Amino acid sequence: MKEQTLLRKARDHAANAADRAKGERPCFHFTPQTGWMNDPNGLCVYRGEYHLFYQSNPYRTTWGTIHWGHAVSTDLLTWRHLPIAIAPDTEADKGGCFSGGAVPLPDGRLLLMYTGVSGTNPPEQTQCIAVGDGVDFEKLAHNPVIGAAQLPEGYSTADFRDPKVWLEGGELMCAVACKNGSGRGEILLFSGSLEGEWTYRSTLCANPGDLGSMWECPDFFSLDGWQALLINPQEMRATADMQFHPGNNTVMMLGEYDAAAHRFEPKKRCVVDYGLDYYAPQTLKTPDGRRVMIGWMANWDTVDGAHAASHWYGHMGLPREISVRDGRLIQSPVRELEAYWAGETAVRRTVCSETVSFDGVCGRLADVSVRVREREAGGLKRFDVQIAKGGGLCTQIICSFEEGTLTLDRSLSGSARDILHRRTIRLDTARGEIDLRIVLDKECVEVFACGGEAVLSMLIDTPLSAQDMAFRAYGTAETEIVCRQLKR
Ligand code: FRU
Repeated sequence: MKEQTLLRKARDHAANAADRAKGERPCFHFTPQTGWMNDPNGLCVYRGEYHLFYQSNPYRTTWGTIHWGHAVSTDLLTWRHLPIAIAPDTEADKGGCFSGGAVPLPDGRLLLMYTGVSGTNPPEQTQCIAVGDGVDFEKLAHNPVIGAAQLPEGYSTADFRDPKVWLEGGELMCAVACKNGSGRGEILLFSGSLEGEWTYRSTLCANPGDLGSMWECPDFFSLDGWQALLINPQEMRATADMQFHPGNNTVMMLGEYDAAAHRFEPKKRCVVDYGLDYYAPQTLKTPDGRRVMIGWMANWDTVDGAHAASHWYGHMGLPREISVRDGRLIQSPVRELEAYWAGETAVRRTVCSETVSFDGVCGRLADVSVRVREREAGGLKRFDVQIAKGGGLCTQIICSFEEGTLTLDRSLSGSARDILHRRTIRLDTARGEIDLRIVLDKECVEVFACGGEAVLSMLIDTPLSAQDMAFRAYGTAETEIVCRQLKR
């Protein structure tokens, strides 16, 4: 009965608060019905719809009392809120229902696997299951299904979370993040069933030492002939090659999976997002075979205090199609976005040698492609794209041909906080050409550079009255710009 009460209370609260919580929201980036949101959870296709669950505190715009919020969509861009799926209402999860995954079962039901937090100092993190019809879920009476008893010696349940669950040859498998005795992240593999016991199978991958401390929120899937392991290392140090930044990173390891031996052999590491606001993504496979990824558009080090006036907090990044080309991770906005293109302004083959702007190339709901070329070798030192410009504010995308770098800089975007506002990465400018695709959705900015080889995501704190765009060449540039307005 206690179970019913907490879940009903959360559902009623969310339904009532939803009206108050409308406010100004992005159009294509998912935001929670009310309260706080962090990681995407249980991203899957079930009964012909995309299901997105998420870490939710329905009662406040700060983290705490973690439930699973829930929404569905048929195109990954327009979401319908559903009642909160699970609440922290049992002994095993009374401290929160942390992140996890979902898998449709052969009998037609949907299984959610999540981390139940119980106890304090240290908190105990164990893996639990709930099964349902896609709206209502019942937790297994014998939760947790994976706890201290299933862990190999030397591991503890203090940092043991975020199961990614899937079916392999009729058996349920899950990959769980764990911190080992030396304080380093590992991904452990378990197998089991709904009714039966769960068993530790192998360590899929362990932090060799240079990938932070704990790893969070694993995902594990095949991608264009590779096996991909997605991890989110905490407390990473920056690397001099500008690949990894300090703090939480998201890394995709590409390698090989020996399913019989349950071994994963990583071969390559790819940075998933070079921006300031992206973490803990999950993926799903669309019915037409695409691998689509959705991440939380935020940064644990800067979330506090970023959400004063609203009744909701948290954005998901734009869903991205991901693939591997020449051993590199390639990302692009889901093609479903094209259905929302409304009105196109194309400015082709323009020579640009100062600051220019163009009629129709503007807006805060826009999908803009920019191709920049040097007119002659060495004749273009730098090229800037200024977006969300107006009232003395703007966000800048700076392509330095001289340095071979790309910078996304929101320091003039209107933020009044002393936090990181700028990130620079290396970019191959040797061909004297750069292409950018910039998606603006009010306060969300995503830059896909070089055909999607590098992506930078950031939230900007800029009033929507700042609608302009400008382009500035230091030298002489040939540009091609196509600006599509986005409309619901
Ligand atoms: C990642 C994370 C997960 C955890 C969840 C708690 O952002 O720390 O490891 O399950 O958030 O809300």
